[in-house]
Amino acid sequence: MAKPRATHRAPVPPPAHRPAAAHVVVPKPTPKSFYGHGIPGCDVSQLTGKLIVMEGADGSGRSTQISRLVTWLEAHGHATVQVGLKRSTLVSEELSRAQAGNVLSRMTLSLFYATDFADQLENVILPALKAGFMVLADRYIYTLMARDLVRGMDAEWLRNLYGIALVPDAVFYLQVSPEELIQRNFAKNHALDYWESGLDLGLSRDMFDSFVDYQKRMIAQFQELQKIYGFTIVDGNRPVDVLGRELQHKIESVLTGNGR
Ligand SMILES: Nc1ncnc2c1ncn2[C@@H]1O[C@H](COP(=O)(O)OP(=O)(O)O)[C@@H](O)[C@H]1O
Ligand SMILES: [Mg+2]
Repeated sequence: MAKPRATHRAPVPPPAHRPAAAHVVVPKPTPKSFYGHGIPGCDVSQLTGKLIVMEGADGSGRSTQISRLVTWLEAHGHATVQVGLKRSTLVSEELSRAQAGNVLSRMTLSLFYATDFADQLENVILPALKAGFMVLADRYIYTLMARDLVRGMDAEWLRNLYGIALVPDAVFYLQVSPEELIQRNFAKNHALDYWESGLDLGLSRDMFDSFVDYQKRMIAQFQELQKIYGFTIVDGNRPVDVLGRELQHKIESVLTGNGR
């Protein structure tokens, strides 16, 4: 089998100019479960690592916060693995090719993403958790569900489909206003993404209007999903450092077993 494309990093000792970590928190094991049918044959009692998920739109600051968390976790002696959407060896390239064409139905796109997710779950996330790693996921099933729900797909069908997923130890949704997202995406990429602007939905011919309308619908869907899945909604409009400290604080509780 081809090697997964996830980023595996062993813990790095802090550089000499930085003070050494005061103490290493050995993560307290907490019982894990799947949302539904899960992966057959997987013994969740062996999953000693922690799964931490960062959700949010393009430009919400997921990469920025994950990179800070990786540095912080590794300085405290934790090995980390990163996963994200469209990173599976199995289908990520085919998915990108299919998205570049115009023959993709809602259902096919949804199942493509579900396959990409299932591949990473089975081949990267679960083995890493079994080896005691901190797994940082740059998006998870909630983005996939919200995108499909905005496109009118059946909520029950989606819940059943993603019954395969492991319940994370912590999920943070960085909620950022669509106007702020436009500023950040333009400053970073000088463009807005076709799918993140919901252009396939024909909401408006103007890309900016479409982006704002689509992102408002996504925020509304995330708020609905939060009622079911109980993740933490974080105000992502605040400065990077303020957010970083808040996330560290919340993850410390997860490591000591006081989180959810
Ligand atoms: N809290 C924040 N406040 C202002 N700008 C931010 C904040 N977080 C990230 N950015 C900037 O916004 C852009 C998108 O951030 P990034 O972390 O790449 O987002 P994502 O991975 O969610 O798409 C980057 O240029 C980043 O420097
Ligand atoms: Mg990113």
